[in-house]
Parts: sequence; C-alpha cells; structure tokens
Amino acid sequence: MIQFLLNQELRSEHALDPNLTVLNYLREHVGKPGTKEGCASGDCGACTVVVGELQTDAAGREHIRYRSLNSCLTFVSSLHGKQLISVEDLKHQGELHSVQKAMVECHGSQCGFCTPGFVMSLFALQKNSDAPDQHKAHEALAGNLCRCTGYRPILQAAEQSCCGKQPDQFDAREAETIARLKAIAPTDIGELNSGDKRCLVPLTVADLADLYDAYPQARLLAGGTDLALEVTQFHRTLPVMIYVGNVAEMKRIERFDDRLEIGAATALSDCYAALKAEYPDFGELLQRFASLQIRNQGTLGGNIGNASPIGDSPPLLIALDAQIVLCKGETRRTIALEDYFIDYRVTARQESEFIEKIIVPRASAEQSFRAYKVSKRLDDDISAVCAAFNLRLENGVIGDARVAFGGMAAIPKRASACEAVLRNAPFDNATVERACAALAEDFTPLSDFRASKEYRLLSAQNLLRKYFIELQTPHIETRVTDYV
Ligand SMILES: Cc1cc2nc3c(=O)[nH]c(=O)nc-3n(C[C@H](O)[C@H](O)[C@H](O)COP(=O)(O)OP(=O)(O)OC[C@H]3O[C@@H](n4cnc5c(N)ncnc54)[C@H](O)[C@@H]3O)c2cc1C
Ligand code: FES
Ligand code: FES
Repeated sequence: MIQFLLNQELRSEHALDPNLTVLNYLREHVGKPGTKEGCASGDCGACTVVVGELQTDAAGREHIRYRSLNSCLTFVSSLHGKQLISVEDLKHQGELHSVQKAMVECHGSQCGFCTPGFVMSLFALQKNSDAPDQHKAHEALAGNLCRCTGYRPILQAAEQSCCGKQPDQFDAREAETIARLKAIAPTDIGELNSGDKRCLVPLTVADLADLYDAYPQARLLAGGTDLALEVTQFHRTLPVMIYVGNVAEMKRIERFDDRLEIGAATALSDCYAALKAEYPDFGELLQRFASLQIRNQGTLGGNIGNASPIGDSPPLLIALDAQIVLCKGETRRTIALEDYFIDYRVTARQESEFIEKIIVPRASAEQSFRAYKVSKRLDDDISAVCAAFNLRLENGVIGDARVAFGGMAAIPKRASACEAVLRNAPFDNATVERACAALAEDFTPLSDFRASKEYRLLSAQNLLRKYFIELQTPHIETRVTDYV
C-alpha cells in the first residue's frame, strides 16, 4: 500500500496500475479535471501540480517544502508519504487564491488551457520566495507554455502574487499538515500493484538492493522524467518498477575536504547549490537543464542511468573526473564515470546493480573548469552539443587537461586526441588551433533534427576557442548561455 494526502484528504492506494500517472489519477480516478494534459512529455507545463514534502531545516525546524512537478511524468507511487496539491485545492471558502486573483487582475489568461499549470507554478513560486525577483519568476515559469496570452501579463501576475503575499490556508494549516504527514511517514516497503504489475517503494539502500536482486527485470524509477515517457509517448507498459526516490541515503549530499558525495536519487534542483558553489558553470548549466518542474523531479542518478548521449551532466562530471558507486546486493564498486558508458545505451552496470552515489572532486585553485550548452532554445531544451573543459594551468602552461563532450558520439565521451595536444603545451592560440583540429580525430558526430554533423563539429571547436578567449579575458560572461 502507499499513502499520501490529496490536499488534506488521506488516500491509501494499493490496487492501482503502477503505470498510472498523477495526471490521469487526478482526472480519471478522483474526478479533478482542472489539471490539463497538453503534451504528456514534460514540455508544456499544463499538467503542473505541487507536491509537498516534510523537511527539517538546519535549525531543526520542520516545515513542508512545496515544489512544482509535471504530473504527466510522475507515477502515483512516487507520492508515497507526500502531499499532492492540484489547482482545485487553491480556492478556499469561495475565494480565489491570491495567485489566481493576480492572474485575473493582470489579464494573464485567455483560452485558459494553460492557466491551471501557470497557477500551480506561481503557487510554488509564492511558497518559495518572499521578494519579487524577475530571475526567479522566469525560472518558475520557463516550463509553462501559453499559446495565446503572451507572457508579460503572467510575469506581472508573478510579481503581484509574490509581492506582499499574505498567509493562505496552507500556511494556516501547516502544523496540522505536518502532523498528518508524520503520521503517514512510510515505515516499511510500500507497494502499488494491479494484476502482475507492481511498483515497490523501498526506504533503505539495503532493501533496494534486496528487491533489485529479487526482481532483476525491474525498471528503476527515480524522477521518471525519462522513464515515464516510455508509457506516455511509446505506450509501453512497465510491469515491475522499483521507486528509488524514498531511499533517504540516496538523497543526501555530503561534503568532504576533497569531494562531494551526491546520492543518486538527489533531485537536480537540490544538486544546484552544492555544485554551483564548487563549479559556477555547473550551476549555470543546471539552470538551463529542462524546466524547474523537470529539475524538481529528475535526479542526477537518472541523468547518468539513462545513458543518453545528450545528457547534460555526464560530460561535466567526466571532465571533473567524477566517480560513481555501484551497488549490487552487499557489494559495492567505485568506477570512473567515463568507464560507465560503453556504447549507445550500453553501460558497465550489471544485472541488479544500481548507482548509489556520485563522487565529485572539489574545486581547486589551479583548475579552470567551464561548461557550455548549445541548444535551439535557451530554456527547456536538450543539447545539440554540450562541452566541458577542465584544464590545470601553471605559468601559462597546461598541466593536466580533461575535455568531454555530449552530443558528439554515441556516448558522453572524453576528447583524448584534443587532450593529448593540450597537455604540457603552452596555453596559446597555436595550441588551441591544434587542439581544435584534433577534435576532428576524436569525433565523427551524427546529423539529426537537433544539428548536422558539420554544425556539431564546428560548434565543438568554437566552444574550445571560446573557452580559450574567456580564460584570457575573464570579464566576458557569455558562457553556458549559448544557444543556436
Ligand atoms: C521536457 C524534458 C526536458 C529535458 N531536458 C533535459 C536537459 O535539458 N538535459 C538533460 O540532460 N536531460 C533532459 N531531460 C531528460 C531527463 O529529465 C534527465 O535525464 C533526468 O536527469 C532523468 O532523471 P530521472 O530521475 O527523471 O530519471 P528516470 O526517468 O527515473 O530514470 C532514467 C533512467 O535511469 C535509470 N535509473 C534511475 N535511477 C537509477 C539509479 N540510481 N541507478 C541506475 N539506474 C537508474 C532508470 O531505470 C531509467 O532507465 C529532459 C526530459 C524532459 C521530459
Ligand atoms: S502535459 Fe505537457 S508537461 Fe505535462
Ligand atoms: S491562455 Fe490560451 S494557452 Fe494560455
């Protein structure tokens, strides 16, 4: 069984198809059709809902953290122990919520199809920010598309609803909701099943390892932002899933003198602060990773686990010489991330083995790490090329060089010929041009709808030139924000 709060109503579910998305659950099972389906692929935001989770802050204070998610890519099993809020829950005692009022007063809605999604993104923004901040408003709304209103009135609604916000019914009932969430906090493995389909929800790494041993054919479910597409876009059924998002040990970020250890089930938006503090470009890249809704649910482990050649974090992590800890039963092994990717969607992962954590070396003073993402849109778009450069420079000479790319081969891959040219060479124009030529030996990229092979190779070379220019002239601040 799994349990969660639907606003304030306790729901206990066990006999549901684990392939059921929260969107379809709301619309078809509980008769709440306010949440809309636009694309069913995480691109439009019409299905945005807010999920509340119990959290304890550094001072030991318990509170509920509210985050926007795309309900079209969220399976119901991942609600276990949480609070689900949909657009119907905002109106209170006959009064619209302040974010809804702001949308009305700023004329933020025309046909209205996108409006519930915008309202829920605004609601999450209001819950998470006190001061009106344009950057935060853009970030909160970048995953919501509107085909008719135009975004200026909606951004005005964001400003109005965050500026001078008053406590709402959720604030008034926070203590009660915390008590109810604590009462349903999972204490054992949860399960949702229907016929021979099931999703298991372990709470510890040991239980996850045991379950994966017992069900080696199971699909691991983290944020589901890739996996759920198999159901919503390809109409497949996933007979057995194991949800890793309730394994607390895999959602921790630990800081050591020389490294960060990031649990594989840590949401990308939770990785942001830690990675940005070490490597500002990593933070910037994460801000351009999909939309806030996707970053709130998608995980770092899932971005590696899907073994996509155009995943954004692997090239950066490879350039940083990151390692991953793989766990199978009681056995653990640590491997360099670059050795994990073998061929297109083929990895070094064995049967019943899963990624437990990612180890990222901490930044050092001699290191010049930069990352670049080239995509057709600034927000919410997948890379055509993603590049990461990590050189150690000593008195104008390149010591070590690690260069990695996504979108240039069947796997995220180091540019070894380019690195060989750079290593122990003076960091000057001639070296960079030789290194650019070597990139043509490293990669024979493919042409697809994102970019032609010629465009990809030239972009990769130009990104290296750009890196060189930026290091010579550190005041230039264009970096990760490139788009085609
Ligand atoms: C609209 C949209 C935009 C996107 N934009 C980007 C983008 O800009 N950049 C980008 O890189 N990606 C993007 N993605 C892809 C996706 O969001 C990311 O790859 C995300 O990090 C996947 O994480 P997840 O937790 O949702 O993985 P899931 O979908 O839960 O899992 C993905 C795969 O990894 C496996 N897996 C999960 N956890 C583990 C584990 N611990 N050990 C082993 N295997 C595991 C799963 O079994 C599955 O095969 C986008 C997706 C969508 C829908
Ligand atoms: S329906 Fe478009 S993001 Fe979910
Ligand atoms: S109001 Fe019509 S899609 Fe936004």
